[in-house]
Amino acid sequence: MADIRIVPSLDFATASLDAFLELVDEFPSPAVGLATGNTPLGLYHALGRAVMDGAVSVGQVRPFAIDEYVVARHHPCSNREFFERHWETIEDAAPVAQFDPEAPDLAAEAARFAAALAAAGGLDVAVLGIGTNGHLAFNEPGSTAECRARVVELADGTREAVKGCFGAESPRAGLTLGMAELLGARAVLLLANGASKAGVVARALRGVPSPECPASLLQGHERLLVVLDEDAARALD
Ligand code: GLP
Repeated sequence: MADIRIVPSLDFATASLDAFLELVDEFPSPAVGLATGNTPLGLYHALGRAVMDGAVSVGQVRPFAIDEYVVARHHPCSNREFFERHWETIEDAAPVAQFDPEAPDLAAEAARFAAALAAAGGLDVAVLGIGTNGHLAFNEPGSTAECRARVVELADGTREAVKGCFGAESPRAGLTLGMAELLGARAVLLLANGASKAGVVARALRGVPSPECPASLLQGHERLLVVLDEDAARALD
């Protein structure tokens, strides 16, 4: 059974932080998969402030990116740059293990990254946002529970959603952990806020689990913690 916490929008960052700390504290040196995007921004900023205040430490966290666009490595809209700005600025945070989108063989790069994660013991905690089409990381609709880290073609809506940053050069492909690696995490923190996520949150948490909505495959996970703001939760019964 998922632990679903619904909070006012103003409390979303704090509730996300509380849930994050609760899960990472269950492991001595957790390997943590980190999402990018707007959803976890409040969490990372609140975490940075809590570390600065001396209230918590993330020095023990081993962070892994869950996906990357196939773009120049230091493109300002890449996930690598996102982590540089929003994670690696946290005082005691370790650098994030990343996919290299400039690798000559991207399929081999996905395999390398998956092997590095496996050698680290797999994910202890996966921090996930959700796409409006139900994607997790870049596991677009059609992704089964068995699919592994790989190169994927991005859905039109996914490309559209990041046009504000990439402009007309919105990438066509991504590197992503697969559903197998994400579902294999010992604990999952799923975050969603805003009215635009209400429909997909209801499909993910209440719909029949199906690869058509990859996030719905989380339903069977034994340690699933979901933090929603009231807008994102409004289509739940
Ligand atoms: C992106 C990322 C996901 C992210 C999702 C939602 O495409 N690949 O990891 O969770 O879309 O993004 P946002 O939080 O900006 O709504």
